[in-house]
This record gives sequence, structure tokens and C-alpha cells, in this order.
Amino acid sequence: MKFQHKHLLGLEELTREEIELILENTAGFKEIFTRSIKKVPTLRGKTVVSLFYENSTRTRTSFEIAAKRLSADVINFNVSTSSVVKGESLLDTVHTIESLGADFIVMRHSCPGAPQLLARKCRASVINAGDGPHEHPTQGLLDAFTIKEKKGGFAGLNVVIVGDITHSRVARSNIWALSKLGAHITIAGPSTLLPKPFERLGVRLSFDLREAIRDADVINLLRIQIERQRANLFPSIREYSLLYGLSEERLKWAKKDVLIMHPGPINRGVEISQSVADGKHSVILEQVTNGVAVRMAVLYLLSGGEENE
Ligand code: CP
Repeated sequence: MKFQHKHLLGLEELTREEIELILENTAGFKEIFTRSIKKVPTLRGKTVVSLFYENSTRTRTSFEIAAKRLSADVINFNVSTSSVVKGESLLDTVHTIESLGADFIVMRHSCPGAPQLLARKCRASVINAGDGPHEHPTQGLLDAFTIKEKKGGFAGLNVVIVGDITHSRVARSNIWALSKLGAHITIAGPSTLLPKPFERLGVRLSFDLREAIRDADVINLLRIQIERQRANLFPSIREYSLLYGLSEERLKWAKKDVLIMHPGPINRGVEISQSVADGKHSVILEQVTNGVAVRMAVLYLLSGGEENE
């Protein structure tokens, strides 16, 4: 099967088969990490530009490593020291980057739909690295890959996503991917942070952490995104933590082989305790490692996906 897309804008528009194809290719690229020379010539001569209008540690760095392992030239465009500060528009910035020879533009922006706009206006392949609260497709893919690696598959698996679902692009991309792959999804948190329309996607809502995680195979904890909240949606961070933070004690409510995930960055002591974040159920750092392999697979498939087969 050939990947038919030029851009990766979200997981909503991918089929189950296309998501499975990315996960299969990810496994192939992860094998490269065990070699002494972790580099293949797949994207030699291509240029990948990362254009992040919002901060990032994991996504930006892992796209850079992924592109370099595929032998691409990589440019990290620094928005804060660029002519964006002088008022240059998004489209003028992107057309300038394209004229400099970009084949791929990896973009993060606070506005939902910004990568979709670029995809309509650009020759380059556009990869959404997070657009406001809308989608973060490569995070959804690396989470799915990590679950598959640890649990063997998705059929009948209970995945609980806890936290600020309203403002979370990670939650949306996880829901699109995991529901297509056959998992049962519960979203848990205060009612002000759980959008009711998500029930139409087949997602269960729970306002009680104990009830939500009782049958969970996977618990994915999300950060409270204070920077995106325009209203006081809960009384205080302390109260949120008292009701929904996952501590060692509360982890006993879940199954013995439950997987603990978090996309990062973590607010230790808020949504997750120190000991749970670093404990034996946690795969948080493995998610980060898998992010490189997923991003290699995405770049490879968007480039046509043939030279290396
Ligand atoms: N998970 C994630 O997107 O992390 P960064 O914001 O550090 O890229």
C-alpha cells in the first residue's frame, strides 16, 4: 500500500489502514536506532524546515533528529529572531522559506487550521506539529505506536485520557487514531474540561478518576493548559490535583499492568506525582524515543515512500 497524502495535517483524515501503514514503517525505522550508524540516505538532497510559532522541546528536537537520520538538510527557523517580529505575515514567511528550497515545512502554530492554510498555498509538504487545540498528529501516532509496542494491539483495549481535554490537541489526535484502531476510549476530568460533543465520537466521559481508571489498560495524563484557558474552569490547580492527580496510592485503583503515558511537558505534583512519572508503569521517556521513529516514518511516507523499500 502506498501512502497517498502530500501533507500530514491531522489523524481525522487518515484511514485505519493509513495509520497502520505509518506504525509498520515506524517499527522499521526504530530498528535503525540499534545500529552503530543511525543514518539512512532516504531524504538525501531534501530540505526540512521547522517553523514553530509556539515553544517545543520534544516535537521540534525529534523532527530534527528524524530528518538528520534520513540524511535531509535541516533548518530550524527561529520565529523570535526572524522578520516575523517586524510584522511579516505567515504566508509571506512561508513563501520566503519555500523560495529558499524547503521540501518539507514542519509547523506549530497557536491557530487551529494554520497548517491547513499553508497546505493549500504551498508546494512543500506541510506537517502539522500542533495547531492550537485542534490536532497534534505525530503525537497521536507515537502514542499509538507505544501502546502497540507494549500491549501488542488495540482491540478491546481501555484507554483513559485524563485532564484538560477541551484545550488538548493531543487528546483529539489520540481519539481519532485509537478509536479507528479499535480501542475503547474514556476521557476523565472536571466537567468544564470534558467537551460533551466528544460522546458523538464514541468516547465515554467520566468525572470520577477512580471509576474512570478501574478497568484501564492505558492511562494518558495531560497537562492543564493554563495558557489556552480564557475562563476559570476549575477553582485551583491544587483542587484539580486533589481530585484528578495520579499518585502512587491512586494507581492501586488501576490494573496491575496498566501503562502510564504523558505527552510532556509534565507538571510534577499536579496531574502526576513524581513517583508515578518515574515508576515502573511509566513509558513517558519511551514515548519520546518513539517520537523520532514515527517522525522518520512520516517524512519517508510523505516523500513518496519508495526509494528505501
Ligand atoms: N508533546 C509535545 O508536543 O511536547 P513539546 O511541546 O515539548 O514538543
